[in-house]
Amino acid sequence: MRLAHPSLEDGPHMWRLAGATGMDVNSPYAYTLWCRDFASTSVVARDGDRVIAYVTGYARPDSPDTYFLWQVAVDPDYRGRRLARRMLDFIGDRIAARGLRHLEATVTPDNTASRALFASFARDRGAQIIWSPLFTREHFPAGEGAPHEPEDLVRIGPLGPTEEAHA
Ligand SMILES: CC(C)(COP(=O)(O)OP(=O)(O)OC[C@H]1O[C@@H](n2cnc3c(N)ncnc32)[C@H](O)[C@@H]1OP(=O)(O)O)[C@@H](O)C(=O)NCCC(=O)NCCS
Repeated sequence: MRLAHPSLEDGPHMWRLAGATGMDVNSPYAYTLWCRDFASTSVVARDGDRVIAYVTGYARPDSPDTYFLWQVAVDPDYRGRRLARRMLDFIGDRIAARGLRHLEATVTPDNTASRALFASFARDRGAQIIWSPLFTREHFPAGEGAPHEPEDLVRIGPLGPTEEAHA
């Protein structure tokens, strides 16, 4: 399994993978645009030619020392093999090298796997982890399909280089 920054060709594969994970699926255009404008802050994992996982994120324009992780997804067949952790470490090393000091994301209250992933990343980086409510149901459209779950903000930092980066 190889990790790399995405290229334009990865957009459709990321869109398909998002659909297979049960997350909010954005438009195909959004994923392809992401691969053009935010490739350096995103990562895809491949098994051979197959895209099996990705992380998308960006440096927040209004808070340039903070990286916001937009989506993390691992193909169901590849879960539990520390692939998401490898991708977060890949991103964490690169954003820390660029001087970013915090990582943020939002997670729904019932997403146990995602909560465990961020806790694992913070623990192994020796960073603080703070959870707080961010988006409530009122921040999402009402009366059109299933209501959107609230999203809690997780903020991790300060981020420093990993042990390996010191070696
Ligand atoms: C969340 C997700 C990315 C985790 O991917 P993964 O590759 O299976 O995770 P890893 O194997 O790297 O595990 C990382 C840590 O999380 C823990 N973890 C992973 N899945 C877990 C689960 N279902 N329940 C409890 N802990 C879990 C692991 O034990 C590990 O913690 P540790 O270091 O303390 O042992 C994956 O489940 C997924 O794609 N879910 C659907 C998409 C989603 O909800 N994304 C988040 C919202 S944007």
